Amino acid sequence: MNRRWSSWHLLVILSALYCCFCISPSHSFCCFRSLHLTFPQDMPYEEYMAQIQGCPKECNCPPNFPRAVYCDNKGLKSIPRIPPHTWYLYLQNNLIEVLSADALRNATQLRWLNLNRNKINSEGLEEGVLNTMTHLAHLYMEDNLLSSVPSPLPTSLEHLRLSRNRISKIPSGVFMGMDKLNLLDLQGNKLMDSAVTEVSLKGLNNLVQINLAKNQLTSMPLGLPPTTTQLFLDGNNIEKIPAGYFKGLPKVAFLRLNHNKLGSSGVPKNVFNVSSILDLQLSHNQLTEVPLIPAGLEHLLLDHNKIKSIGSNVCPVSVDAVDDSVNESVPRLRYLRLDGNEIKPPIPRDVILCFRLLRSIVI
Ligand SMILES: *[C@@H]1O[C@H](CO)[C@@H](O)[C@H](O)[C@H]1NC(C)=O
Ligand SMILES: *[C@@H]1O[C@H](CO)[C@@H](O)[C@H](O)[C@H]1NC(C)=O
Ligand SMILES: *[C@@H]1O[C@H](CO)[C@@H](O)[C@H](O)[C@H]1NC(C)=O
Repeated sequence: MNRRWSSWHLLVILSALYCCFCISPSHSFCCFRSLHLTFPQDMPYEEYMAQIQGCPKECNCPPNFPRAVYCDNKGLKSIPRIPPHTWYLYLQNNLIEVLSADALRNATQLRWLNLNRNKINSEGLEEGVLNTMTHLAHLYMEDNLLSSVPSPLPTSLEHLRLSRNRISKIPSGVFMGMDKLNLLDLQGNKLMDSAVTEVSLKGLNNLVQINLAKNQLTSMPLGLPPTTTQLFLDGNNIEKIPAGYFKGLPKVAFLRLNHNKLGSSGVPKNVFNVSSILDLQLSHNQLTEVPLIPAGLEHLLLDHNKIKSIGSNVCPVSVDAVDDSVNESVPRLRYLRLDGNEIKPPIPRDVILCFRLLRSIVI
């Protein structure tokens, strides 16, 4: 017999004996009671049994993680009946077309619902199916066939991922009351300027990250909440940024505008001179000049534009003022990409004199 297995076995027997005879020797159910206390995720025994017995035959329900139901990658065309104490439901990579209110009737405890890579269109969302899930924090419906942001949504949501659908519409007021939503991913959809407005985004009072990359925007989205820290707009057709646009976004730190149509005439002089910005990505645009940057900027991508030269104005502070003894005034730039422009090596002297903390430059 395997020695390791045998000592493990012995330990289990000893623990069981300890439980039966030492803790409560007179109680015949002591072993069950003791087990009850150590059930995974602190689940009452009755709920545990209901959960295991209610496991849909198409799915896996791990006994040591009884609030999770795994039905992913099963070729399912519809959602099986989900047992009532499920918190985590994995339905990704199936052929589901309809989000059925009946199958999900008892799934009111869900915290996490993954429906990525199915065939759900907006008509396949049965009425009220989502907002009965009053604890739902994470809803993932990437790579489906939605044409509109699902509505109504539970106000408990924290993360909503809807990338790569066909969304062209955000129903007005859909985000009202969604004070917990901090991540909204809408990349790879068909949103035009008229869809992303103050009215459609109203209610996102704690949004931190919004991803609108690979849509059909020609201008900067309006109505973003002042809590926005990460704004991703790569792969649109944005031509210009209104002066003072980021005044309304005092926390913006990560700004991605790669693969747009920004020319230097569409970038007002001080528009990126915003002290909160740490990471500014402007690759693959049509800029002819290096924009003015804030001294605190750490990453700057300007590759694949039409920049011909770099002058002393690249430095956010006066080059003479950059002095190692005064740390505050040293621009923070560490990473700079300028390749794919019309700049000839060597690295311009002003760049070296200004950016003392630069670790990497691609030119
Ligand atoms: C929901 O729960 C009720 C009561 O436990 C049960 O009778 C019914 O079959 C369940 N429905 C679904 C769709 O699981
Ligand atoms: C950039 O912004 C800083 C701080 O707001 C300001 O002091 C500085 O003058 C601005 N730079 C230019 C060139 O306007
Ligand atoms: C920051 O300034 C202090 C005092 O002037 C100096 O001792 C220190 O070496 C500086 N640090 C850097 C990273 O320049």
